[in-house]
Amino acid sequence: MKYTVSQLVKYDCKTMKIDDIIEQLGGAAAVQTLLGVGPSAVSNYRLRGAFPEYARVRIWQALKARGVHVNPETLTDLHDQPPSGESNSASNPNPLNQTAIGQSNARHPDTPQILLIISGGIAAYKALELIRRMKDKGWAVRVILTKGGSQFITPLSVSALSGDKTYTDLFSLTDEAEMGHIRLARDADLVIIAPASANMMARISHGMADDLASTAVLATGAPILIAPAMNPFMWANPATKANTAVLKSRGIAFIGPDSGDMACGEDGAGRLAEPMAIIAEAEKMLPGKGQLQGKRVLVTSGPTHEPIDGVRYIANKSSGKQGHAIAAALAREGAKVTLVSGPVTEPPPASVQVVAVTTAQDMLDASLAAMPADIAICAAAVADWSVDGAGASKLKKTDGAPPQLNFKENPDILATISSHQQRPQLVIGFAAETDDVIAYAKAKRARKGCDWILANDVGQDQPVFGADENEVHLITASGASHWPRMSKHDVAKSLTDAIIKELTHG
Ligand SMILES: Cc1cc2nc3c(=O)[nH]c(=O)nc-3n(C[C@H](O)[C@H](O)[C@H](O)COP(=O)(O)O)c2cc1C
Repeated sequence: MKYTVSQLVKYDCKTMKIDDIIEQLGGAAAVQTLLGVGPSAVSNYRLRGAFPEYARVRIWQALKARGVHVNPETLTDLHDQPPSGESNSASNPNPLNQTAIGQSNARHPDTPQILLIISGGIAAYKALELIRRMKDKGWAVRVILTKGGSQFITPLSVSALSGDKTYTDLFSLTDEAEMGHIRLARDADLVIIAPASANMMARISHGMADDLASTAVLATGAPILIAPAMNPFMWANPATKANTAVLKSRGIAFIGPDSGDMACGEDGAGRLAEPMAIIAEAEKMLPGKGQLQGKRVLVTSGPTHEPIDGVRYIANKSSGKQGHAIAAALAREGAKVTLVSGPVTEPPPASVQVVAVTTAQDMLDASLAAMPADIAICAAAVADWSVDGAGASKLKKTDGAPPQLNFKENPDILATISSHQQRPQLVIGFAAETDDVIAYAKAKRARKGCDWILANDVGQDQPVFGADENEVHLITASGASHWPRMSKHDVAKSLTDAIIKELTHG
């Protein structure tokens, strides 16, 4: 049986069979696409004679996309009440066709799929704004609302904004038939937990899986971004600090919390980061187009520590931020990245194999073990010298002259890789100079035998070590190009783009 829009919105739907509605929606396959469910779910609806509650949002949106405005509440309750919304059937004789469905819900392969977990805290209401902003960007957003979260906002308001069902229950037969908890976790390109309650962070840091949110976090292979929000004392509590450190050490990224007035009347660090700041951070973590799929990449990062004796060492100011950001950016494009890192506090990037080393010799050994590679990027600040004969015992202070330290030259990792039998197709080094940056960098490129050098000015007025920004010059065989000051993430992204261009077009 065929219905017009005016029939759909005025019809006493108690008499309208589920099969007829499915036909109006374009058939079972279209309903699957519309609701993001499998064939068994549609069979369940037929057996039950009703759509699930969340379907009203989707059907409503499919209509809205065609300029037909109906009441989402009544339209969903097709089996209980006659819908009472308005229609403009004259201009849209067939609003529930494939096109309308596709416009509102079908996911383009390039559309990022975000799994947003909203946990229990006053800031949960800000997650609604976050959903809106993510939808503005064209991202597909699925939401898990924790039990705590649902004390602050309702699944209906979440669904109305996400255009999708709001998932709440781990042990829901219907949900499992429609979108199993594993698929929910595995479909995501990025998991965002915002706001993340202290409780949520504690549970996921212990690998618990006793509700849908924690189980999805444990089951996902996607990068995770946490935006905590809580009372400043809760945030400063050693238990929360320890949980945060554990999560960071596993490659989970954090944004915020911000400082300021809190809803609880206290002042301090604990406010949820602004939605646009969360989105900006999320953008850095979204996977690329897989343009480096199948490529093996070696990245070195951070400082080296060269022992003087059993308790002292020589270090430098490198934080590892730039090298780690490069490793992360390459991994997002599908490269298989080995990150050989000196001692840093930077968390390990997601989907990157990290080899932790201490000395320049360790770094060389680990780098050679990671060969063969298609690309090598030596971003580490490797000590040029180490102390000859440094022993395990602490040097004692004596009344006489201070101890004499004899230095020996460390292995040159960049030069070794550049002249290696299994030399990578592209070898990139870094140069940190205080004067005459480009000239020194060009000379370094020739001396080391590498392909490119990224040179930065580490002079007094240019904070680089430990900073979040960098200003570099890319030196290649064809000359030098200047990249203005930008975040180290953006430098990493620009370098990744240049590498893709080089490997694609030569
Ligand atoms: C009014 C109220 C506000 C709360 N605000 C927060 C908060 O901002 N951050 C937080 O971590 N916990 C907050 N809590 C405590 C959490 O809601 C509680 O730990 C809950 O179990 C978290 O559940 P979830 O982790 O499943 O979402 C608040 C509790 C109440 C009653």
